[in-house]
Amino acid sequence: MATISKPVIVNTLLDFYRRQITADNLGYRRRIYRLCQTLLEPYMPFATACDFGSGNGWFAQKFQQNGVANRVVAVDVHRQENCYIEPLLYSGRRLPFDDRSFELTYSIDVLHHCPDPVASLKEILRCTDQYLVIKDHTYQTFPGWLTLCFLDEIGNRPFGIKTPYKFQKGWQWFSCLEDAGFSLDHLIHPAYCHPKPMRWGTSRLQFIALWKRETG
Ligand SMILES: C[S@@+](CC[C@H](N)C(=O)[O-])C[C@H]1O[C@@H](n2cnc3c(N)ncnc32)[C@H](O)[C@@H]1O
Repeated sequence: MATISKPVIVNTLLDFYRRQITADNLGYRRRIYRLCQTLLEPYMPFATACDFGSGNGWFAQKFQQNGVANRVVAVDVHRQENCYIEPLLYSGRRLPFDDRSFELTYSIDVLHHCPDPVASLKEILRCTDQYLVIKDHTYQTFPGWLTLCFLDEIGNRPFGIKTPYKFQKGWQWFSCLEDAGFSLDHLIHPAYCHPKPMRWGTSRLQFIALWKRETG
């Protein structure tokens, strides 16, 4: 009788798991895209946009195809397989753009992956001319933080994306935006990013915010 080796079983299970996560992820992304579009609709279309931490470029392609922005530049520290839009790769420190290069910048589920989220936020702000959208997480309690760690692990580990658990407690990143002369235009929180019934436990851990440059 033919024997099936352990690595084959493990790889098959991993492949199945990745396919399930990818299918779930599509619904999650569509919900986030709709929320972003609602925020940006009054100001669309933007001449240029930068997708900070673009991953496989799903959002960059959507923003461009649906006319949110005429030109979207994707940037990341890591290239994923099967990209919709190729990212410009950089070291993770200084973004390879001049000050205020983009009318719109956006960062979807990226800042908590950065070793120093506030330093990365300052870099995004330097390159933003007018508007910034942040989709990320917030927690208040230790169980909230643990839930985010768990969700981040199952959503990212199968794709080789590192998860340093640098989640925002409360709104501690917001003072950095205010100090840089940006004001909060709109905040969606809780944000319904997951389907029911999961969203009942996760929506308070998700937010989407639109910021606008006021000074400078
Ligand atoms: C969870 S994925 C999100 C990808 C994409 N924004 C999306 O929602 O489909 C996090 C992404 O952040 C990227 N990333 C991590 N550190 C980064 C940094 N310092 N600068 C830019 N991107 C970074 C990772 O490589 C990864 O593609």
